Amino acid sequence: MYTAMEQTLRGTLAPIRTGLDEFERAFAEALAGHAGLIGEMASHVLASPGKRIRPAMYLLCAYAHDDREAVSIDGAVAIELIHTATLLHDDVNDGAEQRRGRPAMNRLWGNLAAVLMGDHLFARAFRIMVELDNPLVLRAISAATERVAVGELLQVQETHNIALDEKQYLNIIGNKTASLFAAACESGSLQTGDDMWAERFREFGELVGLGFQIADDLLDYLGDEDITGKPQGNDLREGKITLPLIFALRDGPSAEAADIREFLKSGSRENGFGDVVEFVRACGGFEYAQERAQAYCTQALSLIEDLSESPYKDALQALVAHAVRRQA
Ligand code: IPE
Ligand code: IPE
Ligand code: MG
Ligand code: MG
Repeated sequence: MYTAMEQTLRGTLAPIRTGLDEFERAFAEALAGHAGLIGEMASHVLASPGKRIRPAMYLLCAYAHDDREAVSIDGAVAIELIHTATLLHDDVNDGAEQRRGRPAMNRLWGNLAAVLMGDHLFARAFRIMVELDNPLVLRAISAATERVAVGELLQVQETHNIALDEKQYLNIIGNKTASLFAAACESGSLQTGDDMWAERFREFGELVGLGFQIADDLLDYLGDEDITGKPQGNDLREGKITLPLIFALRDGPSAEAADIREFLKSGSRENGFGDVVEFVRACGGFEYAQERAQAYCTQALSLIEDLSESPYKDALQALVAHAVRRQA
């Protein structure tokens, strides 16, 4: 069963349904051909597919130039493989229990196998890109892959840093998440558009990616686990300080902020997560983060205002709106 919001999203993506179906076939093919451990892990990846938002953005940015014949799906396959690899590694980094409503792969096969499978997916993605033989796409996606690793390392560096500010936070999420959104939009646009549009779509993707990650960080506080498929409160447990809390610690009443800082340092308190949620809520931290996510998406939409009208432009606009209002 789909939630009402998923139904809306499926409706939004109707103009690229054929392209998304082609993507699913090519993605499954990219993961095929291995027996044993790799085959089992690949089946797990395919059995819990995720939202496919990056392939959708790739296709919409390609089709927006209205030359569907010229579009190769391989760039989207490479990007989704890289996204999947980063999730495998991220779940090891975060010691995650659950992903997409199922046990995380590190729980099922252990950290070593999960990391090596992630490496396998990265390598597979790069072979697909080399075969695609488009140096601009290769440059866009490889630069993004480098940034994802930088973002994840910065995040490790800043774990438990309760003095983390908004600028540092944006630098982390720009690298770890917006990078791949930017590459998806740029490389999609490169299939059919000119250099000016590819650059514009890169910036567009970067802004949508920032909004998307802020929304993900909000869902970590407020989301329904049955819908997100990930346990609530993970970020705080892992020492990840995200935008709602950064705002509350900065702008909230100083005595209460000091008390919360003390808890975050010592980690010992009954119902610690509940207290932090209440503090952030009382300070308006959730509204602030939601407003920032919305602002990035509004800025992104302004970049594609003068794109000629088409069902793809409409779908892109709807997808961006969904990215920051989503429940999963
Ligand atoms: C999860 O990305 C990691 C983030 C960048 C927040 P998605 O929310 O796109 O994950 P799936 O692919 O739909 O599971
Ligand atoms: C996104 O960050 C992870 C990557 C970009 C690899 P999160 O750590 O917030 O993602 P989830 O919440 O585990 O999906
Ligand atoms: Mg994580
Ligand atoms: Mg998260």
